[in-house]
Amino acid sequence: MQTIRTLEALRSGIADFRESGAEIALVPTMGALHVGHIALIEAAKRPGRKVVASIFVNPKQFGANEDLSRYPRKETADLAMLKAAGCDLVWLPPVEAMYPDGFATNISVSGVSDGLDGAARPGHFDGVATVVAKLFNQVRPDLALFGEKDFQQLAVIRRMVADLDFGIEIQGVPTQRDDDGLALSSRNVYLDDAQRGAAVALPRALGVAAKAIARGDDPDAALGTAREALTTAGFTVDYVALVDAETLAPARDSARERRLLAAAKLGPTRLIDNLAVPPAEDA
Ligand code: PAF
Repeated sequence: MQTIRTLEALRSGIADFRESGAEIALVPTMGALHVGHIALIEAAKRPGRKVVASIFVNPKQFGANEDLSRYPRKETADLAMLKAAGCDLVWLPPVEAMYPDGFATNISVSGVSDGLDGAARPGHFDGVATVVAKLFNQVRPDLALFGEKDFQQLAVIRRMVADLDFGIEIQGVPTQRDDDGLALSSRNVYLDDAQRGAAVALPRALGVAAKAIARGDDPDAALGTAREALTTAGFTVDYVALVDAETLAPARDSARERRLLAAAKLGPTRLIDNLAVPPAEDA
């Protein structure tokens, strides 16, 4: 596995892959890797394909009062995990390579970025879209893979790629979960034992609400029940919402694919999760 820290070396590594006739898949990450990230690498692997992972804790997607300075950084362990998973190249750009002096470009994907986490974290999705566009231009992959856990991020990236003709296939990979159902996240390390115990209420509340909506119960009542269950478990609820899976606008049309999304805080730690709402016959 090649470990690369300059744009020049990245370009040359990518050119070698292209010369060999390989397709290139990119898995962008912010490090602090867990089984969820490794599932992205596994999903990317295929004969005739080279897998590139990037590790960059992107300052532009953190708000002023968020956890940029304490975001977990575990480079040695990350590299060992990527190597064991069969990743071919890791791109570890220094911050100056991503945002050199004078950097002035911002990519803003309106509509799909606006509500939910976009409302709670102003500027977050601009930061994500800007860094992902930059990574796409640096690596020029054929395919890029993102976890469905960050469902709104996935929708923002799909919209950006379509709008700007990147010509890159975007693949969403199902959320990986602990045995009790909690979605894996680099931020789960912030939870103390009691909070970790309570956190399971998030996937449970979503599961109950998704089933209720799928069997035809009133969505507002199901969302209200989920909010109550979260509050009882000690969460401060940011949102629990039923949205159109593509536009993320409030879901009005049950014939379209719908998604249930939630964000809630346990102490200072903000957790997000989401579930597909199955069509009535699958409920
Ligand atoms: O999902 C993440 O880890 C980040 O938001 C991403 C896509 C790597 C951009 O910094």
